[in-house]
Amino acid sequence: MEIRKLFEPITINKLTIKNRIVMPSMGLAYSSDFSFNDRYRAFYRERALGGVGLLTIGPVAIDRVGSAPFMPGLFDDIYINPLRNFIDRLHQDTDAKIATQLLHMGRYAFSALTGMQPIAPSPIPSTLTHETPREMTLEDIETVKAAYVQAARRAVEAGFDFIEVLACTGYLISEFLSPLTNRRTDAYGGSIENRMRFGLEIIREVRKTIGEDLALGIRIAGNDFMEGGHTSRESARFAAEAEAAGVDAINVTGGWHETRVPQLTSNVPPGAFVYLSRGIRNAVSVPVFASNRLGDPHVAERALRSGACDMICWGRPLIADPELPNKVRQGRFDEIIPCIACNQGCFDSIFAGTPVSCILNPRAGNETHFRVEKTPAAKRIMVAGGGPAGMEFALTAAQRGHHVTLYEKTDRLGGQVNLARMPPGKKEFKRLIDSMAARLARWGVDVHINTPLTPEMAARERPDLLVVASGARPVRIPVTGMDKPHVVDAWDVLGEKVWNIGRNVVVVGGSATGCETALFVAEMGVPDPETFTFLMYHSAENREFAAELLHSPGRKVTVIDMVPRLADNVGRTARWSLTKSLKLMGVTLRPNTTLLEIRDNSALVQTKKGSATIPADTVIMAVGVVSVDDLARDMEGTGIQVVTIGDAKTPGKITEAVREGFEEALRI
Ligand SMILES: Cc1cc2nc3c(=O)[nH]c(=O)nc-3n(C[C@H](O)[C@H](O)[C@H](O)COP(=O)(O)OP(=O)(O)OC[C@H]3O[C@@H](n4cnc5c(N)ncnc54)[C@H](O)[C@@H]3O)c2cc1C
Ligand SMILES: Cc1cc2nc3c(=O)[nH]c(=O)nc-3n(C[C@H](O)[C@H](O)[C@H](O)COP(=O)(O)O)c2cc1C
Repeated sequence: MEIRKLFEPITINKLTIKNRIVMPSMGLAYSSDFSFNDRYRAFYRERALGGVGLLTIGPVAIDRVGSAPFMPGLFDDIYINPLRNFIDRLHQDTDAKIATQLLHMGRYAFSALTGMQPIAPSPIPSTLTHETPREMTLEDIETVKAAYVQAARRAVEAGFDFIEVLACTGYLISEFLSPLTNRRTDAYGGSIENRMRFGLEIIREVRKTIGEDLALGIRIAGNDFMEGGHTSRESARFAAEAEAAGVDAINVTGGWHETRVPQLTSNVPPGAFVYLSRGIRNAVSVPVFASNRLGDPHVAERALRSGACDMICWGRPLIADPELPNKVRQGRFDEIIPCIACNQGCFDSIFAGTPVSCILNPRAGNETHFRVEKTPAAKRIMVAGGGPAGMEFALTAAQRGHHVTLYEKTDRLGGQVNLARMPPGKKEFKRLIDSMAARLARWGVDVHINTPLTPEMAARERPDLLVVASGARPVRIPVTGMDKPHVVDAWDVLGEKVWNIGRNVVVVGGSATGCETALFVAEMGVPDPETFTFLMYHSAENREFAAELLHSPGRKVTVIDMVPRLADNVGRTARWSLTKSLKLMGVTLRPNTTLLEIRDNSALVQTKKGSATIPADTVIMAVGVVSVDDLARDMEGTGIQVVTIGDAKTPGKITEAVREGFEEALRI
């Protein structure tokens, strides 16, 4: 399919935008004092140059009580000039239009960051912050509205082309909208008309301040996905009222931070929430933006062609690849660094209060620090290992002009990512392998699969540099019964090398690999999405029975670990979703449980209450890995320069593997 619709211009109010691509608001935490510094400038400039149509700088803080110092401030006139200078330059150098998003976090604000008790429509505790906000008085309401108005005035003075008011995700305006968090009995609570009042007054007053001609948008949830909260019906009603109050565009996302329906993780199907923007588009006449998991340009193009939306948001896809719009427009698909929705570098970072980065793009957020420049002295380099570490090294070194040969002993590139992509909801990880393989070809790396790199080969070739990126292998623990035939490794289960998996499965080791393998085994027998859709489409089964099938593994799976908390090495924004899926599939998680012995039909374990047996006709070991670094040791004393990276150096994650590959390739 030709990507055409994505590059059609669109006019919102008087603002003409060159294409349909929006980079939505994303908290980046590149400063900690509300300042707009060089790190922000470099990040946004690259994305504006990369071809995005509407680039959002923000969120910005409209006041102190509803914000965090990690976002640029717009609650004082001192913040205008730094933004103005930057936006003027962007307008001179690029044809991107520049938006900002006005944010008040309400009950999601952290008092540890603001030094103040959060404020909200009603004093309902937040499960995100574990704090209880103070109920806003009518005076507070007037003060916050005035803060929005003043921030909007400053945004105009700073030269923004588009102003967006955030009214979703469980932040202040959505707290007023939802009966879950708004228990007021005055004019701002009770009926839906009253609950909408706060947001609509803000829109009207902001509109009055910025004038009729400047484009004004609002970001709403197509559905809060909170039981008892706003559904698509109330959202459509609010969207229509917002249009009447003066907005020119509606950006539709979904869910609150407390929502227990995944919104961003890789188990959310691409384009899953396009139906929400369609619902809103049916209710309004202004342009509507669709959001979440639209990073695949074909999915984005289809969403636009379907008539469900007028623009699409690329958030994380533009963190991963600032040049994504230009690459798509120029047909340079083989150069794209894809977002795999892992959240590890971005969303997890923001929740840890650390700067946003990207596991596949080590330059994201470090644009001023890292530059991939041509080398004046090309070297001959051999790389052992085609996992993420070896591939990232090879493609960065080759981009710099070095002559790189990469050897992979198995029949495919990707290393452990070939296993990481197997558990339910992780098939996006395959895009990592495909994109790296395509980029290796693009940059002319000489790739040899089915070829272990041996010390003899290295001695014969005598490269200027040998890079050992040979990864890791699983370990076992010394427990009686470990040699029984029904004991297998998680790697072999995920690699589909095990064909006899019993009805009672015990997974030993409850870190990410163990828990994901348990889910993989539990979900083996459930209908795949296509089958489920088929059953629903034809009403072949009644809904309840079909839904039951989705959660019926047909075997009993138990995960044991001696530690008190399972899946502890999974990022905060993905962990709850993994543990939710395990629960839905009836997988039993047993922390504080140590394996003592493997018997023919059971596992003997030690718990806090004493020893116990768990029925087990298959025992899956997932107790960790050790580095494979023999090649580096074999090369000692040969005079050949060797660097070891990734899991071969220290077992870790893709994050470290890619970063080390990248940084070593810049160092040579
Ligand atoms: C089930 C599972 C799930 C995971 N999930 C995640 C996740 O969600 N997020 C995350 O960040 N990380 C995850 N990881 C970890 C991540 O995959 C690894 O940390 C990462 O792949 C390490 O990259 P690497 O290139 O250092 O090593 P590897 O990926 O192990 O690649 C090493 C490669 O070297 C090859 N090789 C070895 N010796 C030689 C030789 N002499 N010559 C040629 N080739 C050789 C191997 O065949 C292998 O292909 C997961 C791992 C597993 C097993
Ligand atoms: C690190 C990070 C911070 C975010 N901060 C905000 C925010 O402040 N306001 C907002 O409306 N959305 C925020 N989002 C949501 C994004 O705008 C976007 O809706 C989401 O990433 C899904 O789109 P994507 O799949 O294209 O990334 C954030 C997302 C990320 C990854």
